[in-house]
Amino acid sequence: MKEEKHQMIVLPCVGSTNDELKKMARGGAPHGTVLVAKRQTNGRGRLGRSFASPEKGLYMSVLLQPDGPAEKLPTLTPCAALAVRRALRRVCGTETDIKWPNDLLVNGKKLCGILTEGVVDMHGVAAVVGIGINVNTDEEELPQELSGTVCSVLGTTGRETDIMALASAVTEELEKIVALWETDDPALLEEYRAACVSLGRDCYILRGEERVSACVRAVADDFSLVVDTPSGVERVFFGELVFA
Ligand code: BTN
Repeated sequence: MKEEKHQMIVLPCVGSTNDELKKMARGGAPHGTVLVAKRQTNGRGRLGRSFASPEKGLYMSVLLQPDGPAEKLPTLTPCAALAVRRALRRVCGTETDIKWPNDLLVNGKKLCGILTEGVVDMHGVAAVVGIGINVNTDEEELPQELSGTVCSVLGTTGRETDIMALASAVTEELEKIVALWETDDPALLEEYRAACVSLGRDCYILRGEERVSACVRAVADDFSLVVDTPSGVERVFFGELVFA
């Protein structure tokens, strides 16, 4: 990762920090620009879902123009989960598991989601890594249908967290992780495999309308999953797992 100082912009409210940062990237924002919003009115999740973003959570996006081929950019997504995991441990003392590809869980409940999107800026293809963490969030403010499946740092630790300290720690850890990513350091895969709670689990793979039962056998060297399915061994490059 280049050695520029990160520029962190903090706004009270935006539709989606990913959308705003993509606009800024097209307008020439540099690598390492960070956008934090106190809340979002149109927070977006993976697979076209919405992401509830009430006050007291951390909603941030980071613009990355790392050294590496565009085809490798999707592997930044699982790596970003490692950065957030490290930051949560450092700032909040919270231990998380990674559900492939990049949800962070505590006791099986989701604490953080990550949405990485590509953007074409004047340097070529860049990545916008969007991170949403339920930090001091009142769990009652999250959608009713998520009840029992999500959690917050406050609910987990009983302590309030300084949200901007967490945002800074995420940015720092992301910088370190990107440096490892750029050199294909095998330590990244090792750390990811140790954190990935999907390994060995019976699950369903959701691909659009399709639902395939599978058992997760391994995380491959490109961070895709190797799964056993009724029709044989398959590789999963994208999509969502639901634990059986
Ligand atoms: C998911 O769990 O499906 C991914 C959620 C990603 C949410 C973050 S919050 C900051 C950034 N802005 C968005 O609109 N989405 C991401």
